Amino acid sequence: MLILGIESSCDETAASVVKDGREILSNVVSTQIEEHRKYGGVVPEIASRRHCENILGVVEKALSDCEKKLSDIDAIAVTYAPGLIGALLVGVSFAKGLAMSANKPLVPVHHIAGHIASNYLSHSELQPPYLCLVASGGHSHIVEVLSYTDFRIIGRTRDDAAGECFDKCARAMGFPYPGGVHIDKASKLGDASEFKLPHPKVAGNEFDFSFSGLKTNVINMIHNAQQKNIQLNFNNLSASIQNTISDILTEKTINAAKSLGYSTIAVAGGVSANSGVRAAMEKACTENNFKLFLPNLSLCGDNGAMIGCQGYYNYINNITADESLNAIATLSLENK
Ligand code: KG4
Ligand code: ZN
Repeated sequence: MLILGIESSCDETAASVVKDGREILSNVVSTQIEEHRKYGGVVPEIASRRHCENILGVVEKALSDCEKKLSDIDAIAVTYAPGLIGALLVGVSFAKGLAMSANKPLVPVHHIAGHIASNYLSHSELQPPYLCLVASGGHSHIVEVLSYTDFRIIGRTRDDAAGECFDKCARAMGFPYPGGVHIDKASKLGDASEFKLPHPKVAGNEFDFSFSGLKTNVINMIHNAQQKNIQLNFNNLSASIQNTISDILTEKTINAAKSLGYSTIAVAGGVSANSGVRAAMEKACTENNFKLFLPNLSLCGDNGAMIGCQGYYNYINNITADESLNAIATLSLENK
């Protein structure tokens, strides 16, 4: 079965053809990062306009790259939530039009479920149930993946997402947007022992995250140094930020797995590309005898293949939509 997956929730226009939920036949990502970089973040209005301009070409290329025609496709899957509303609407409207005109089933996909599915494309043996840490620019969740289509969130961020914390700390150091990957690179040249950063205490749910205190601490430190004309070592500071975020994400995920009795753990979302997060999770999972699944680096960020994969599982579980499908900016993975 061939699924065409379409993704436009943020600043990547992406489309992919996925076979039987597990095999990527084509994967086209058109990124707008360069254009948003000069504003220091994604400008929603620009994102929507670029999606409009790019989506037809991206979908055509996804089909032609694997030498398929629209008539070969069994269903059209699209990210409908959550994300920038104008950006989502482009993908949803396009997918609806395509599905109706070609008389194909339309399959709605939740963006976070898509990120989780990126591991199915990287590891043929992975099957639910397992525990998944999802860390991206907009979300930080610990999720029980009960089945391919049922999720229970057992921990979430109270404020900033992990990727947002990376990006805001990076911006304060003058790194270009999105800064997570620049902190990752700088960390490799740094020594984390120079700066001691706070591990937040979160009252209530022990599996919830909070990253705003860490972010504020780093930004204040940089501003204070600037006022005194002191040049901080940003490689060392990057290493500390990366270590601290990696430790927080790993500790909570491992504790959640122990407490709920999971021995299979996956990580997904843009931050799963971070070398510190990957190394910390690998070390902790080895120590605890847990099996760890990390997505291929090419599938950590937003892409159409993860939507095609999750679209397959939604479709075979009768999760489809009609022309009334709408884009939704904020929607929990549990209420999808
Ligand atoms: O999943 P994603 O592509 O988009 C959202 O759904 O948000 O995640 C983007 C986030 C950004 O915050 C970006 O800085 C972060 O993932 N990211 C990284 C790395 N690569 C991407 N953060 C740390 N280290 C990386 N290597
Ligand atoms: Zn994403």
